[in-house]
Amino acid sequence: MEKEKAKQRIKELTEQLNHHNFLYYVEAKPIIDDFEFDKLLKELEDLEKLYPEFQEADSPSIRVGGQVTKEFISVEHGYPMLSLGNTYSEEELIDFDQRVHKLILDPVEYICELKFDGVSISLIYTNGLLEKAVTRGDGVRGDDVTANVRTIRSIPLKLKGNDFSGEIVVRGEIIMPRKGFDDFNMERVEIGESPFANPRNAAAGSLKMQDSAEVAKRPLDNFVYYLMGQNLPFKSHKESIEALKNWGFKVSAHYRLCNSIDEVISFISEIGMLRSKLPYDIDGIVIKVNSLKQQEMLGFTAKSPRWAISYKYKAEQATTRLKSIDYQVGRTGAVTPVANLEPVQLAGTVVKRASLHNADVIEKLDVRIGDYVFIEKGGEIIPKIIAVDMSKRDLFSEPVTFLNNCPECGTLLLRNEGEAAWYCPNDDFCPPQIKGRLEHFISRKAMNIDSLGEGKIEMLFDHGKVRTVADLYSLKYEDLFGLEKVIAGKDSGKDKKLSFKEKTVENILNAINTSRNIPFERVLYALGIRYVGETVAKKLARHFKSMDKLMAATLDDLLGVEEIGDRIAGSLLEYFLVPAHLQIISQLRDAGLSMEQPEAAILSEKLSGRVFVVSGVFSQFSRDQIKQMIELHGGKNASSVSGNTDFLLAGDKMGPEKRKKAEQLGVKIITEEEFILMLE
Ligand code: IVH
Repeated sequence: MEKEKAKQRIKELTEQLNHHNFLYYVEAKPIIDDFEFDKLLKELEDLEKLYPEFQEADSPSIRVGGQVTKEFISVEHGYPMLSLGNTYSEEELIDFDQRVHKLILDPVEYICELKFDGVSISLIYTNGLLEKAVTRGDGVRGDDVTANVRTIRSIPLKLKGNDFSGEIVVRGEIIMPRKGFDDFNMERVEIGESPFANPRNAAAGSLKMQDSAEVAKRPLDNFVYYLMGQNLPFKSHKESIEALKNWGFKVSAHYRLCNSIDEVISFISEIGMLRSKLPYDIDGIVIKVNSLKQQEMLGFTAKSPRWAISYKYKAEQATTRLKSIDYQVGRTGAVTPVANLEPVQLAGTVVKRASLHNADVIEKLDVRIGDYVFIEKGGEIIPKIIAVDMSKRDLFSEPVTFLNNCPECGTLLLRNEGEAAWYCPNDDFCPPQIKGRLEHFISRKAMNIDSLGEGKIEMLFDHGKVRTVADLYSLKYEDLFGLEKVIAGKDSGKDKKLSFKEKTVENILNAINTSRNIPFERVLYALGIRYVGETVAKKLARHFKSMDKLMAATLDDLLGVEEIGDRIAGSLLEYFLVPAHLQIISQLRDAGLSMEQPEAAILSEKLSGRVFVVSGVFSQFSRDQIKQMIELHGGKNASSVSGNTDFLLAGDKMGPEKRKKAEQLGVKIITEEEFILMLE
């Protein structure tokens, strides 16, 4: 095809396909089928390959992703992302209405919207093109997740019409509709990954994935509910929302203008009844003052607008019968009782199990086998029992006696003073605890062996291929290839077989191999020593500089490290006393894992000998980045202000106590800008 023609065709196809995307994902009224769509898309992709210079900024081929983000860049929000005040009762709504009327003497019209239960997102458009998508973060700065958000088909890459100019900022919520969530979770379980607890977590997890092509496969959707920008012509929130709709965004049809708080309350109860039938989760209603002029008069508090509030629905409840109690041993050895229930419908799903948390909860609820119980859904995957219907209790029922022995390995259970959970002390040999340690070891912040999810670790363990984390490093191709797991067929009754194929095995071995380069501080964290989290591991690694020195440290040596107290020191000493642990460390060392802290490259001596306390939120760098800069220039970080402190580097929202102390001790308080000047 000649060049000009190709250019023309690319333009045509882009427009056509975007229109079909809009009809399918925003309007839910497609006019062509998937086959035809894919054919057109293929034609476009082929042409774009030949003439990449003609690819349009809003090309639908961008939707399939492909861009990989190693680390999400933190960016400052042009307008801070505030939260909303919450209310849970009619009285609180009436209070809100009165506060509004105190400041506004004219009549006030409210607009009520659904409060989507997802992940908030800020979309920045410049001259109609999607330029950036940023997560909420701490409200001041968030992560740039543009590549991932571009794959969400209900978010326009280019706005329709021409009644906009310059920069506009659109706020909305990225959600995963329930049906998509259920299918997606089921697939995850089938391929050996762990399921997400709820659609919100699934949406949040998806947005933070490094490979946008993976995000493109997830059933994400988006609703927008707020528009900002300079010189916008709109007079009310409703007009803004209508404009967003005309520009091609997905705006919920469930909203209502109300002239009084009573009308607001009616809307809340109407939607409350409809809620479980919506195809996505909402957790409440947002009530906004409709007039933008009145919004401006009401203004903002430090945290939220005075012109809006949210009403949160109470968790939904149901009642059913408790059939029996199972006991599950977690990765830390804690034994959790789980109730088996007569199946019952709750908030859109059938519930068969509920958490009972621990022995104290069973005792407090006085729940007995055969009781009728009230259950409620919180944010977790399984709901909880909140009370017993005593009026229906069987006369001969007896209190539950908690287990004495571990249901997995038979060891006598123990309970620490002041703790609610019974736990199995057999941490080195009790299967779920071993699996838990393996899962922790491979997790992203530890050794980041991402091609080995929770389910795959379980397979390796069940087949006897790994017993300790060190065993991972002697795995060979033949150990893994063809490994099988049978997944019990749910409704069909037919079992399914899952087996490791060539590609999976290669990915696993590659990831294990790459993990040999992980720095010492993360290897230390990966060992899963009790109380040694990410930050403590970092501190220990930087202080002792090598595994050998850490292992040789005495109680006093350990207590001498900033922020290490008796509890952590005791746990470390205990850990290094166990021969099996020493053997694992030595095997990991032989496998080539890093057991030494690399010497930090020093950029300058500008801050040599100076002690800083960094506190609050900063605008140009994250707190950790600033701390790192201090060290790179020869300075030291301390966590609390004392006589030794030279500078208190004060960010936004710094605690008042720190400032007071610094003033008392005459410690110099500096801003981020002053700090940057010190380095120049
Ligand atoms: S308005 C300045 N409208 O709820 C006000 N927020 O608790 C901006 N949310 O961070 C927010 N549905 O993530 C607004 N219809 C809606 C919403 C909504 C869900 C979320 C949003 C916000 C949080 C506030």
